Amino acid sequence: MAPRKLAAGNWKMNGNRAALAEIDTLIAAHPVPGCEVLICPPAVLLHPMKARVGDAIALGGQDCHAKASGAHTGDIAAAQLKDVGAAYVILGHSERRADHGETDVAVAAKAAAAHAAGLTAIICVGETEAQRDAGETLDVIAAQLDGSIPDGATAANTVIAYEPVWAIGTGRTPTTGQIAEVHGLMRERLAGKVADAAQVRLLYGGSVKPGNAAEIFAIPHVDGALVGGASLKADDFGAIIAAL
Ligand code: G3H
Repeated sequence: MAPRKLAAGNWKMNGNRAALAEIDTLIAAHPVPGCEVLICPPAVLLHPMKARVGDAIALGGQDCHAKASGAHTGDIAAAQLKDVGAAYVILGHSERRADHGETDVAVAAKAAAAHAAGLTAIICVGETEAQRDAGETLDVIAAQLDGSIPDGATAANTVIAYEPVWAIGTGRTPTTGQIAEVHGLMRERLAGKVADAAQVRLLYGGSVKPGNAAEIFAIPHVDGALVGGASLKADDFGAIIAAL
């Protein structure tokens, strides 16, 4: 059986309490039987968003610390995300890898902490444009997967998002063939690491829009999307969900 589809919106460092009204519109206008919808807002919005949406959609954080608690000013523990209603956490996004120097080892430690707290980790991988131009894409993705997925990962607690760095927020996307090649590799590679690899959801992310979503979702081993900019507007995100 194919994995259940997942449409995940990453609000990044956008939005405020007034923006929560977009969620009402999304839920009212875009019922989504058969697919799971997730919003990952800035952490400060998780609690009010949970109060607003209840169980209508899933919520997630955008990062967590590898430790369960302690003297880590400015950081958030996985259990704290869980406490305010998160079921997921995005880890190893390329913006965090670039802005905060997060390595595969650090991402794996965070994912293990997320699992211990009962969160599903969305582990992000993706090549830079220079790496693609150099023909290194598949090696880069394989190495990131090997290094970022902790022991104990299963289809229930882990989602993988392929996000080419050069496609994020640029309006550019890989060809369907390029996405298929990477997702096929990811499925194969997971088989050596995760017992139920065939059920692990593999998301594509990078300039997913209403106009290209259907074509992307038709690619083998694409089980959903991690959407940035287009997830901020209920109508755009709703149209992407409808294409799943
Ligand atoms: O996490 C989401 C991705 O970085 C994609 O962002 O849809 O704005 O290109 P984007």
